[in-house]
Amino acid sequence: MNSDQYPHIRRLRRNATLRDMLNENRLSASEFIYPMFVVNGTGVRTPIEPMPGIDQMSVDIAVEEAQRAMEAGVKSVLLFGIPDIKDATGSGSSAPDEAVQQAVAAIKRASPETYVITDVCLCEYTDHGHCGIVKGNDTDNDATLPLLAETAVSHAEAGADMVAPSAMMDGQVAAIRNGLNEAGFSNTPVMGYSAKYASAFYGPFRIAADSAPQFGERRAYQMAPNQGREAMREIEADLEEGADIIMVKPALAYLDVIKEAAMRFDTPLAAYNVSGEYSMVAAVGCAGWLDRERAMMEILTSIKRAGADLIITYSAIEAAELVARG
Ligand code: PBG
Repeated sequence: MNSDQYPHIRRLRRNATLRDMLNENRLSASEFIYPMFVVNGTGVRTPIEPMPGIDQMSVDIAVEEAQRAMEAGVKSVLLFGIPDIKDATGSGSSAPDEAVQQAVAAIKRASPETYVITDVCLCEYTDHGHCGIVKGNDTDNDATLPLLAETAVSHAEAGADMVAPSAMMDGQVAAIRNGLNEAGFSNTPVMGYSAKYASAFYGPFRIAADSAPQFGERRAYQMAPNQGREAMREIEADLEEGADIIMVKPALAYLDVIKEAAMRFDTPLAAYNVSGEYSMVAAVGCAGWLDRERAMMEILTSIKRAGADLIITYSAIEAAELVARG
């Protein structure tokens, strides 16, 4: 065979500098968002068993952790609150003295440059573990909306830079947008968990947040994994309602959805590299069955290559450190 008869693709792979020059998708710390679980109390750092390296933290420790993230170049955090007391309506979700509201204020005070985003949902605060008010066997969509808006406003009042509704109630972005505007927070952006699937990959998060539904499951409001086009409808709905940033969640098993959304919509797109994706790599890496760091970076790169502008990931700090080392 004459070597002129086929394309010479490998010529560009033989030199490390050239490979680096031709890198199509470079991860950067500025696109990472670091999720944190905040609890009440002080000096608390409780490891989350299925997520090695990730802890439940009291406000004082969360402040230190946000500063550690900042030092690694990760300037944005996403806060989840775990209350001491849960009730039927998730009333803790909008309480100004709850962990999340306190953490927002404390982080902004200690580290004003940190961009603080809050998760807006009721499931961590309801005793039944559902994302909204329950009537009979179903969540009551419209009764839940004002509570989500109230929660978002309480976060903004505490100083949150952005709010991110994840309850998958229809109309939640509009309800929150209106609530924020009426409360004088018209400049606070909303990042919708637009296409959020009912996923087995949330398992470790539910242990971390103690938010597993006590009966039934979330398939009546989260999307079925089989649905691709429906994700586009969900995103369109969020955009009509005024979402500033859209999201696909989880990421790894939904790279096709991320890609489709990136091609269709010009709004900034986030992808959530969820707890189960983190745990999977941690567990397999711990067994010595693959190189954990390489697998982690490969997954994050695939999410970027699919078209995500922002990646929410528990690996944010470690990945940022690896990116910095080059
Ligand atoms: C709250 C919420 C969940 C996650 C983010 N926000 C849990 C769920 O819907 O059950 C999952 C995040 C993760 O698994 O890392 N509704």
